[in-house]
Amino acid sequence: MCFQRWCLALELLFLLHLLLATSTQGCSKYQVTAISGSNVSLQISNLSTNYEQLTWLYSVHQKILEWELNKINLFNSKFKNRVSLNGNQALSIVNVQKEDSSTYILRVLKESGKEEEWHISLEVFDPVPQPNIEIQKKQEVNNFCHLQLSCKIPDQSITYTWYGNSRALATGPQSFMLEVTVNSENHSTSYTCEVSNPVSSKNDTVYFTLPCQLARSSGVAWIATWLMVMVPIVLGLLWTQDKLF
Ligand SMILES: *[C@@H]1O[C@H](CO)[C@@H](O)[C@H](O)[C@H]1NC(C)=O
Ligand SMILES: *[C@@H]1O[C@H](CO)[C@@H](O)[C@H](O)[C@H]1NC(C)=O
Ligand SMILES: *[C@@H]1O[C@H](CO)[C@@H](O)[C@H](O)[C@H]1NC(C)=O
Ligand SMILES: *[C@@H]1O[C@H](CO)[C@@H](O)[C@H](O)[C@H]1NC(C)=O
Repeated sequence: MCFQRWCLALELLFLLHLLLATSTQGCSKYQVTAISGSNVSLQISNLSTNYEQLTWLYSVHQKILEWELNKINLFNSKFKNRVSLNGNQALSIVNVQKEDSSTYILRVLKESGKEEEWHISLEVFDPVPQPNIEIQKKQEVNNFCHLQLSCKIPDQSITYTWYGNSRALATGPQSFMLEVTVNSENHSTSYTCEVSNPVSSKNDTVYFTLPCQLARSSGVAWIATWLMVMVPIVLGLLWTQDKLF
């Protein structure tokens, strides 16, 4: 038994310790990626329904909304007109922007008095811009062609992949430059730079012809347009000749 003051204080400390220990349980990490302008729904897949209070926070300091006894309290935040609670659990955000990227927190107070917390990291990306291959170097030496192509985009989160005849040659976050030396045996007829991030990808292609020529469009496409222009002219010539005789 415990009657003395110091003893009571110790018991209180022990209780507090227990409370703190249980409150940190059930904290796991979730990751969500989204394209800017889309609508997202943040949720925990296996959340049980026996809770008394549910709170969504944007970082530790900013509450977004709170659910308690079937009432929703919307806090004054930059989300005020863009959020809603879906099925009493999921946080729906309309028209997400890059600035909304953050670690969101879901805090749940269970009927047992136990508090649980989940962290969901939301990363919002803009669609990648259209890349444009720049020819940095094009040098012909002894039947070899030395090429240096670049398609750099000023954005940290971009991954570059270079293809020669649709076969991957190089890939990585820093691979904005392709440098190859080719000859008649091992050249590719096209070189493609694909830029991508977790939500989108775009590419640009240049076409190679021996010994060391690069063009924006393929020879096939060029011939097709050439035919479309030449056929009417030829027909026109035939027709005028017809009239002469
Ligand atoms: C997002 O939700 C809003 C409101 O519900 C709707 O008007 C809009 O079309 C949705 N946008 C997309 C990209 O689904
Ligand atoms: C939910 O599921 C995850 C993995 O599937 C598990 O780690 C976590 O403990 C579960 N949470 C609850 C509250 O059941
Ligand atoms: C093509 O072949 C030449 C000579 O064998 C070699 O130096 C060069 O690196 C090769 N290029 C590619 C892209 O494989
Ligand atoms: C390049 O983009 C087009 C669509 O714009 C796509 O059809 C094609 O598969 C892409 N090529 C590569 C190599 O990613």
